[in-house]
Amino acid sequence: MSTMLDQVEETPTPSAAEEVSGRLFLQTLATAELLNAYLGVELGFYRSLSKDGPATAAVLAERSGADLRYTQEWLAQQAVAGLLTVSEEAVFSLCDGVHETLVDETSPFYAGGMAYIAPAMGRALPSLVAAFRSGDGVPLTSYGADAVTAQGALNRPAYENSLIDEWLPQVPEVQARLADSTRPARVADLGAGVGWASIRLAEAFPHISVDGYDLDEESIARGRRYVADRGVAGRVDLEVADITRPLPRDGYDVAFFFECLHDLPHPVAALEAARRSLAPGGSVIVMEENVAENFTAPGDEVERFMAAAGTLWCIPQGRTETGSEVVGPLEIRPARMQRLSETAGFTSLEIVPIEHPFWRFYRLQG
Ligand SMILES: C[S@@+](CC[C@H](N)C(=O)[O-])C[C@H]1O[C@@H](n2cnc3c(N)ncnc32)[C@H](O)[C@@H]1O
Repeated sequence: MSTMLDQVEETPTPSAAEEVSGRLFLQTLATAELLNAYLGVELGFYRSLSKDGPATAAVLAERSGADLRYTQEWLAQQAVAGLLTVSEEAVFSLCDGVHETLVDETSPFYAGGMAYIAPAMGRALPSLVAAFRSGDGVPLTSYGADAVTAQGALNRPAYENSLIDEWLPQVPEVQARLADSTRPARVADLGAGVGWASIRLAEAFPHISVDGYDLDEESIARGRRYVADRGVAGRVDLEVADITRPLPRDGYDVAFFFECLHDLPHPVAALEAARRSLAPGGSVIVMEENVAENFTAPGDEVERFMAAAGTLWCIPQGRTETGSEVVGPLEIRPARMQRLSETAGFTSLEIVPIEHPFWRFYRLQG
């Protein structure tokens, strides 16, 4: 007679292939659910359920200008996925936490940018396959407008909530220089994207002026609209420029590279241009990926994310120029940063004591 214990012991352990297959199924599920979240952000469904309140499918479709049948299906999917609740009267409401993660773009928990990564990568996939064969790069424009949305939205919560109150106090000299009203500081935001860091810096330090440079025209165009909306147009100037070449202006007290050095085809040239653009006593602050000190395989989730983003996003975008020396997010480790900094002529590099799961901060001087 078999006991319950025997039955448990008889359960076959999953084979390695079953485990990998199960993992891939969960990743397929996660991708499909994330793409449904993209629909909810893009079509304004989450925003409407938050701003105008719970709704039936007919009401939400009417409010959002969407087709009823598709809206019904999306609402059912969201309820099954656990992001919405549904009442007996078929009225749908946001679950706790969804407003902060998928509606409020300034919330520290906003994750809507993540929903835009996969669609942007998907658009570039044919070019990526060709690039893997040819060795060419794939420019940001091949990833479409969703790529600009993703990049802007991913880091914005940190700039809105942490840059001024949590990070800059860890570099007191830089913070004091920015706050000095007697000698208004000049700041460069290199690889500024859509400019959220520039905007936040200008808001927090009312005497400074910020020049934000980025190669991508769409990012600069959107950024200029955000700058105007936030009322800092007189002190934030966003401009299309290649930061691997001598910068259009100089005399900067602080030059920031916010998560862009690893993307650049010529990181040393960019650091050198930044160094030459500094005013006496100025510093360069680099925010880069918080990857392990050495290559680790298999890696933790941060390492895995950086490795996956590297193949699909950063390396191809950084290989758009001949002779590219793009580093990528997986290899921008402290020892590599030290070498880049020394080669670019800096005499000192220190790691700033800011604890963050994704980022490590460096201060370069000299
Ligand atoms: C990962 S994004 C970071 C954007 C922004 N700093 C942020 O944190 O949201 C990297 C940025 O570097 C810009 N970039 C890449 N190569 C560049 C170059 N040679 N000159 C100027 N910007 C460049 C890209 O267009 C992109 O906006």
